[in-house]
Amino acid sequence: MTHTQAGEIAAQLAAARADTLALFDLAREAELHESPGFGFRPIIWHLAHIGVFEAYWLLQKLAGEPAPDARYERIFDPISTPREAAKDLPTRREMENYLTRVRSRVLNQLERLNFNTDEPLLRAAYVYQLVLEHERQHQETLAYLFQLLDPQKKLRPQTTHTTAPDVAAQATPQAVSAPPHDMIEVPAGEFTLGAQWPVFVYDNELPAHTVHVPAFKIDRLLTTNEEFAHFVAEGGYERREWWSAEGWTWRERENWTCPLYWTRDGAKNNGGDWRERTMFDEGALALDHPVVGISWYEAEAYARFMGKRLPTEAEWEKAAAWHADEKTKRMFAWGDDVPDATRCNFDFHLWGTTPVGSFPAGASAYGCLDMMGNVWEWTSDEFTGFPNFKAFPYPEYSEVWFDGDHRVLKGGSWATRASILRTSFRNFFRRHFRIAFAGLRCATDT
Ligand code: AVJ
Ligand code: FE
Repeated sequence: MTHTQAGEIAAQLAAARADTLALFDLAREAELHESPGFGFRPIIWHLAHIGVFEAYWLLQKLAGEPAPDARYERIFDPISTPREAAKDLPTRREMENYLTRVRSRVLNQLERLNFNTDEPLLRAAYVYQLVLEHERQHQETLAYLFQLLDPQKKLRPQTTHTTAPDVAAQATPQAVSAPPHDMIEVPAGEFTLGAQWPVFVYDNELPAHTVHVPAFKIDRLLTTNEEFAHFVAEGGYERREWWSAEGWTWRERENWTCPLYWTRDGAKNNGGDWRERTMFDEGALALDHPVVGISWYEAEAYARFMGKRLPTEAEWEKAAAWHADEKTKRMFAWGDDVPDATRCNFDFHLWGTTPVGSFPAGASAYGCLDMMGNVWEWTSDEFTGFPNFKAFPYPEYSEVWFDGDHRVLKGGSWATRASILRTSFRNFFRRHFRIAFAGLRCATDT
């Protein structure tokens, strides 16, 4: 590896770390040590976990060094350590010292490694990108957890974005007139699902393989709060008929009556105006924003209420990526240019959702809007491996979650970093998981 390449990686590691640390300034340390709710680990747990992952891959696996701190390795392993063990965690300062220790050893080593090899972990610095994407994905998880905290317990960040401070100013929605809430027809045909680009991708995006996708229709826009409020007003959470058996069981057990961050003045079901809690505020429900804070079960029930259904993963990806005239698949909905603030709402630019269809420059070839960023989109598909899937470099990223409960989500949210936005990226959460910034877009047969 040349010095420039090593320098670039070091700069990316530093930038990601600055973004991570800035997130921990959102609340006082005492808040960071509490579970933010629903049994989730304290927010501060993620700080050391990020460092333990870095140490594991870059020091232990790559260089054969011993774990820098056996106790950290134990507490911050998500798989081997139960959540209840995440109590009485070290202080933020102690964790930051650990991260600094790990990082200085990593940087030392970076200079000495040869990346010009066929060794799959090292080739194209794969394992460094793995560590970077891991940290950036945890930044999004941190945003979900901070969103659970009462806005009064949070401090609005001075600068919204630590690596490119002027980007937020440009990130104003571009729409001149409201786009139609229509459906777009996609004719039947072959489509190649999966990653076909020379960048870091996860094992679950491979191997790319061609499938036949029957003709379907898909909403141009994400489902809005206004549309979802109609479902609620029509008894969406009281009437069994739109729900699957398992979905209804969850609805009853958890007593879901509306999306996670919705509240209403007056007594329950009293018909007051809906309000919604966002990251730093609480206010009237923004009717033209996408609905967010719903489980897969609620998304499915809404689609059924509309006489529609969730898109399959292949339908979603085709509507996002396929350019029928050119017979090409695009890495991003709009083409192959890297994401920027004129194309989509991503990378924490605005700390919240934007009205649906605000980025005409980000439209897919078929005309779908918000296919990247704003909110993740639930698909109907179970998360499984593509035919001939091979776990790489470890089964715990993807394979252990091929459990029948996880569903695939596509697109990305306002808290997704640029490197994770690609039409082949497959996110996955359990069906009852509600804290992701996830909503939906409906589809139908033709
Ligand atoms: C792909 C977002 C579901 O957060 O559980 C983080 C990413 N994997 N650490 C998750 C991940 C290991 C993962 N998701
Ligand atoms: Fe992790």
